[in-house]
Amino acid sequence: MNVSEALEKRKSVRAFTNKTVKQELLEQVLTSASHAPSGVNTQPWQVAVLSGSKKQLLQDKLLEAFAARQEKKMDYQYYPLSWSEPYKSRRRECGMQMYSALEIAREDKTKQIEQWAANYRAFDAPVMLLFYMDAELQTGSYLDYGMFLQSIMLAATEQGLATCPQAALVEYPEIVKDVLNLPSDSQMICGMALGYEDVDAAVNSYRTQRAGISEFVTFFST
Ligand SMILES: Cc1cc2nc3c(=O)[nH]c(=O)nc-3n(C[C@H](O)[C@H](O)[C@H](O)COP(=O)(O)O)c2cc1C
Repeated sequence: MNVSEALEKRKSVRAFTNKTVKQELLEQVLTSASHAPSGVNTQPWQVAVLSGSKKQLLQDKLLEAFAARQEKKMDYQYYPLSWSEPYKSRRRECGMQMYSALEIAREDKTKQIEQWAANYRAFDAPVMLLFYMDAELQTGSYLDYGMFLQSIMLAATEQGLATCPQAALVEYPEIVKDVLNLPSDSQMICGMALGYEDVDAAVNSYRTQRAGISEFVTFFST
């Protein structure tokens, strides 16, 4: 698979088979991704790979916090505080596509909440990845991190694996740091579900759209 093919094939997958992912494959994907560039070769990334009982422990705690309506507060502000166009419509479309694939009605808040809660189980993927970096690292390292994350997803795609990047997994950063025994000032970036796609699951049956390049590119020549 070449890079263009991997870029087109990668999508966020939210239902997985129970097939386990071999350690060797995980190491291969993470090694490939470590070739990602970073300013002055900082390599800000640190990754926790969770499966089995450790994944279960973390997901139980996250689900408990969610059920108790504990306040969510990521270590950084990911989304805009108020949404304007075109982002507002794109966000709405993103949710609508998923709920319509799952046949969850707009007014069925209970089912929507259940679907959101699946985030905290990493959608039952066999592997949950948690990404974090040291406290002293700054905004530039978030750029580096994005490149690393996409590199993981492309390398995983090449290996026949499926992924879903997840901000939801770091909505309760103090819980994650506690379970992983990390310093309290670590910066939790995001999580990721990783495993094999359940190709029969309705939630995996759609693709999100992209604006054409004429909408976001300006060519200057003279
Ligand atoms: C950093 C990051 C965090 C995300 N967090 C979540 C999440 O918490 N839950 C979720 O279901 N999808 C999450 N997504 C997936 C996006 O919704 C998805 O990438 C977007 O809708 C485009 O669809 P695609 O990935 O299938 O191309 C996240 C994506 C990124 C890049």
